[in-house]
Amino acid sequence: MINETIYPLKGELEIPGDKSISHRAIMFGSLANGTTEVTHFLQGADCLSTISCFQKLGIKIENTTDKILIHGKGLHGLSAPTDILDCGNSGTTTRLISGILSGQTFTSTLTGDASIQKRPMKRIMDPLRQMGAGITSIHDNNCAPLTIKGSKLQSIHYYSPIASAQIKSAILLAGLYANGETRVTEPYISRNHSEIMLSHFGANIKTEGTTAILLPNPILEGQKIAVPGDISSAAYFIAAGLLVPGSEILLKNVGINPTRDGILRVAKEMGGNIELLNMNTDNGEPTSDILVKFSALQGITIGGEIIPTLIDEIPIIAIMAAFAKGTTIIKDAAELKVKESNRIQVMVDNLKAMGADIESTEDGMIIHGGNDLHGTIIDSHMDHRIAMSFAIASLLADGQMTILDKNCVDISFPTFYQDLNRLSGNTLHFS
Ligand code: S3P
Repeated sequence: MINETIYPLKGELEIPGDKSISHRAIMFGSLANGTTEVTHFLQGADCLSTISCFQKLGIKIENTTDKILIHGKGLHGLSAPTDILDCGNSGTTTRLISGILSGQTFTSTLTGDASIQKRPMKRIMDPLRQMGAGITSIHDNNCAPLTIKGSKLQSIHYYSPIASAQIKSAILLAGLYANGETRVTEPYISRNHSEIMLSHFGANIKTEGTTAILLPNPILEGQKIAVPGDISSAAYFIAAGLLVPGSEILLKNVGINPTRDGILRVAKEMGGNIELLNMNTDNGEPTSDILVKFSALQGITIGGEIIPTLIDEIPIIAIMAAFAKGTTIIKDAAELKVKESNRIQVMVDNLKAMGADIESTEDGMIIHGGNDLHGTIIDSHMDHRIAMSFAIASLLADGQMTILDKNCVDISFPTFYQDLNRLSGNTLHFS
């Protein structure tokens, strides 16, 4: 992008559907009796991977422009796939489906793209094996491709060393097929969309502190699910609205579940002018419009229990910190190293290349904000959140910006560049 002038962002934006909730709607709808209707579904590549996996497991899923219809066959209605299940780039698909496949009466093999084949699966293989699943890594490296031999499962109480909704959900989904009560305790609470939606479909599930507790063998019934806008996608426009002088943006119908809203708390603590309007609840998920106005930001320290509530937003928070006054310290975020890319390394390398004062630490980064940043060649490592973060950084940087593999945003936000152009009233040329 050639940035000779700074264009304020103005107007309203409907944020695409939440990725985590869209995945779960397909999965739980497939395991329910009868039809589940999903509106505002995220038509991103990751969620389309989930649809294709469940179609291969014998579920009829109709994807029309305005809704998804899932013709569920009940908890025991999946059939043996005739093909390998391809989870694409999606960690959520890979890990959650592994829990479901562990409790089936057939064997399946799943894989994904080059990034998925490097992501750690031992974190779900260990607890699923404790439950009795026959799960093996084909290359014996604890990564996909995985073969899962469905088995009779025992319930466990798993103490997860990591606050991770993907680990928690994989175990709970296997727990649907277990012989007793399944419990998962986390160090801090991670996103609880599985718990909320499973309960909505009729499962007997509750939370005590950081422990989720599920009873097996529920009768799940098809539901109407209206997916809220994804706060992780809204985060790029929250940052743009705060950073670009003169901006004022209204983000419509965004999910503000407290296990996901860390970005709002951080943005406010940095001095951001953010207002929540029209607060509501959809299928147990709180939603709101978010009004964002340009603000002078200052650095803060971020760590501890807030980290799981903003784990996917740390790349864009690092961009905010680079333009803020003072120092931002991000700690307790070692999980960033095992996302779609090593997000600590990739953020530090790319921000340094733009002229930022930033260093990596064992579990995060330290950013001394306020340097003038210039355009450069950004290697996105095919990671959607890296590409979008640097597209926002380029709004304020001097000179030409090139984002390699910029179309990887299709994973979670296919209309990202069009929406950015529309709000800036300009055609921003990203090369
Ligand atoms: C997700 C959980 C998070 C998050 C991912 C989506 C989910 O991963 O980073 O983008 O939908 O459960 P972890 O559970 O590994 O932290």
